[in-house]
Amino acid sequence: MDNEKRFVTGLDVGTENVRAIIATVESDGSLAIVGYNEGKSTGMRKGIPANLAGPAGAIDKMLGDAERMGGYDVRSAYVSINGSQLLSTKTEGMVAVGTNDHEINDEDLDRVEDIAVSGRIPANRDVLEVVPLEYAIDGQGGIKDPIGMSGARLEIRANVISALTPNCENLKKATASADVEAERLIPSAVAAGKAVLTERQKENGVAIIDFGATTTSVAIYEEGDLQYVGVVPAGSNNITNDLAIVLAIDPDMAEEIKRRFVTGSFDSNKSQVIKIGKEGKMERNFERKEVDEVVKARLEEIFGEIRKHLKAARYDQRLPEGIVITGGGAKMRGIEAFVKQVLEASVKVGIPQGFGGVSDAVAKPEYAAAIGLAMFAAEDSNFETSAPKKSKKASKTKLKKAKKPGNLFKNIFSKF
Ligand SMILES: Nc1ncnc2c1ncn2[C@@H]1O[C@H](COP(=O)(O)OP(=O)(O)OP(=O)(O)O)[C@@H](O)[C@H]1O
Ligand SMILES: [Mg+2]
Repeated sequence: MDNEKRFVTGLDVGTENVRAIIATVESDGSLAIVGYNEGKSTGMRKGIPANLAGPAGAIDKMLGDAERMGGYDVRSAYVSINGSQLLSTKTEGMVAVGTNDHEINDEDLDRVEDIAVSGRIPANRDVLEVVPLEYAIDGQGGIKDPIGMSGARLEIRANVISALTPNCENLKKATASADVEAERLIPSAVAAGKAVLTERQKENGVAIIDFGATTTSVAIYEEGDLQYVGVVPAGSNNITNDLAIVLAIDPDMAEEIKRRFVTGSFDSNKSQVIKIGKEGKMERNFERKEVDEVVKARLEEIFGEIRKHLKAARYDQRLPEGIVITGGGAKMRGIEAFVKQVLEASVKVGIPQGFGGVSDAVAKPEYAAAIGLAMFAAEDSNFETSAPKKSKKASKTKLKKAKKPGNLFKNIFSKF
């Protein structure tokens, strides 16, 4: 019955675009997408809120259509967080759990995670995820799930993802003033990876790169676990700006060239001329090669920075399943070839597919993060159940205090 359905919402708050996915969770746990929308974002700088009214207004405006389409009034959502403030820290911890015949329980895991986090993460940071990579019992390592095992000493090796507290609070405030409680904040690349990566890819080793307007973020998986997250504070808008400067054209024209005339082939014999601009307006001619060279220079810089992240995480040229790219920037023609050249790995564009409902309409790389957020929400059984459609307040401009997230150390991260 309809009123027994569980609804979940993913909200991707980007610098240029905000996107929402409203879905119902089917009996087998899969998602049926019932509402979606995208709109222009404002008040965000390189993935971080620069003011509250901008993103709040953008979310509010965009969400209205998604809600009407889904027949559902969104009260809470899983929300993306981004920016070079995101940090991935490898930590370790150890606790005594009792005598030799003590059976490890959830409480022991919480305690050892707390130890691994406390003192390792600066006080001005919120812990977004604790990903347990490996446990050891009485010095015996390589244990993935120690629950029920016997031992006296429990050790953990974990990956802790954190973000600056003010940025988390401001994001929650911005969504709260659009009447949406940010139930959980998840890095954009992690969210995108949820929607487009397979379990096999995550097991063998893969990197997901979310190529946005002003940020390019990367998440690395191996042995099924999230090993690393990093963000480069530059994105596809930098290409547009470079084209505008080098070709001495306005940004709108540069955007059109980026979307229509990049080839990515670097065929030196190709000197095909681009004609652009409406009749009566100034018509400009460029060689495609010239355009490709501007694009290539910027991509070398951005993905060169991504490569530094891969090196720092010790995954450079060590990813059997290669690289998957999402985000609006992934729609540029030839992106796979460009990135392959810089990162020397197999590259493909990640298209979120295989969902129910109106999923065909959002089978696009720029919707991966919003869909992944809805998927995470679907796995959280405490999150948003069916609710009768309520009428929204006329004004949503008043800021509400964002609710504190639940137990940050809850072990849902093992699913990341
Ligand atoms: N068809 C296309 N070809 C090339 N680039 C495109 C195309 N469509 C969108 N883009 C680019 O994608 C970028 C927007 O991507 P996206 O919506 O993922 O960004 P965002 O999430 O708002 O930004 P960020 O994640 O950096 O905060 C813009 O730079 C835009 O020019
Ligand atoms: Mg984005």
